[in-house]
Amino acid sequence: MKYDNVLVFGPTGGVGSAAALYAHSLGAKVWLAMRDTDKAISGLTPEQEQNSPGAFMRVQADLLDATSVANAVRQSGAKAVFTYASRDASAMQLAAKAMKDAGLEYVVLLSSSSLQRVGDLRAVERTDFIPFIHAQAELAMEDAGLALTAVRPGYFASNPVNNELDRSQSPARVRLFRARENLFDPVDPEDIGRVCGSVLVTRPSQGQKELVYVQGPEIMSNNDIWKTIVEVTGENIDIQHVDKENYVQSMATKMPMPLAQYLAGLQEQDGERYDLALLAQTRGNVKKYTGREPAVFADYVARHKDDFKSLKK
Ligand SMILES: NC(=O)c1ccc[n+]([C@@H]2O[C@H](COP(=O)([O-])OP(=O)(O)OC[C@H]3O[C@@H](n4cnc5c(N)ncnc54)[C@H](OP(=O)(O)O)[C@@H]3O)[C@@H](O)[C@H]2O)c1
Repeated sequence: MKYDNVLVFGPTGGVGSAAALYAHSLGAKVWLAMRDTDKAISGLTPEQEQNSPGAFMRVQADLLDATSVANAVRQSGAKAVFTYASRDASAMQLAAKAMKDAGLEYVVLLSSSSLQRVGDLRAVERTDFIPFIHAQAELAMEDAGLALTAVRPGYFASNPVNNELDRSQSPARVRLFRARENLFDPVDPEDIGRVCGSVLVTRPSQGQKELVYVQGPEIMSNNDIWKTIVEVTGENIDIQHVDKENYVQSMATKMPMPLAQYLAGLQEQDGERYDLALLAQTRGNVKKYTGREPAVFADYVARHKDDFKSLKK
């Protein structure tokens, strides 16, 4: 183990909680940097926290407030941190500088495989929302002089429920656009988090920058994703195939309109999403860094069945 005292931003998140728990399982002391230190953390009960004195320490910090970031680094004495990418690029620069000035040396950043084909990170246009946010976050760490492992995951297995499912209807409803043409690699956020926790503690490369891609084990059409959800959950979900405009309207109930429009635009790009040669090289990364096979999508759905239930009785 290279780092036995680490700081994790966003431990209430799907990826952040798994990163914190995995770093702990490898023997590191884990500081939990939270906007609200009273919040529950999935997979970590208050009893577990109390019964393992000194193993987990909560510290208040907000990535949008560089002073709080510096305080958290100083208070923890950690040299290694896991962090999400903030949507606010200038706040990310300030946070990275604050980390470096407070004595941090190494960052594991949750980035995105949307940067797979990008050569020059500085050339990514602001209108390419998702690549832009993650390019700016990677650059912030590099420019601050921090050693960086950028973990670049593919399509989260949690996206169908988070982005597409309208649970306020009974039956719950989903609107799909070009669902047969669009291919995804659903990857379990917990697998991503465990990879992050592993590289946080071990720092596999001593170089200034390392990329770790994390992909799901299957390539599935969006249609097959929803067929699997219905089969595994047994839920009656009203699946409608709609045109782009209706799809955007439906996504915009879950996210800002420009992001909904951007994601709908991506769905129109046939066969562009995956670099299959790179996928073949990096498919083994979950096993390589965690020792376990990545979750197949049906198993992910089975563990999250309740997330697909309509909220209306
Ligand atoms: N969806 C995809 O397919 C995909 C693909 C590639 C990469 N990604 C990346 O993965 C991220 C989503 O990961 P996830 O599902 O684990 O997210 P999540 O469950 O929504 O968790 C986000 C975490 O970040 C924390 N957070 C938010 N703003 C913060 C701030 N200003 N300061 C400190 N902490 C803050 C949240 O804390 P609170 O409890 O305070 O809210 C929460 O713990 C995306 O934002 C993107 O960067 C996603």
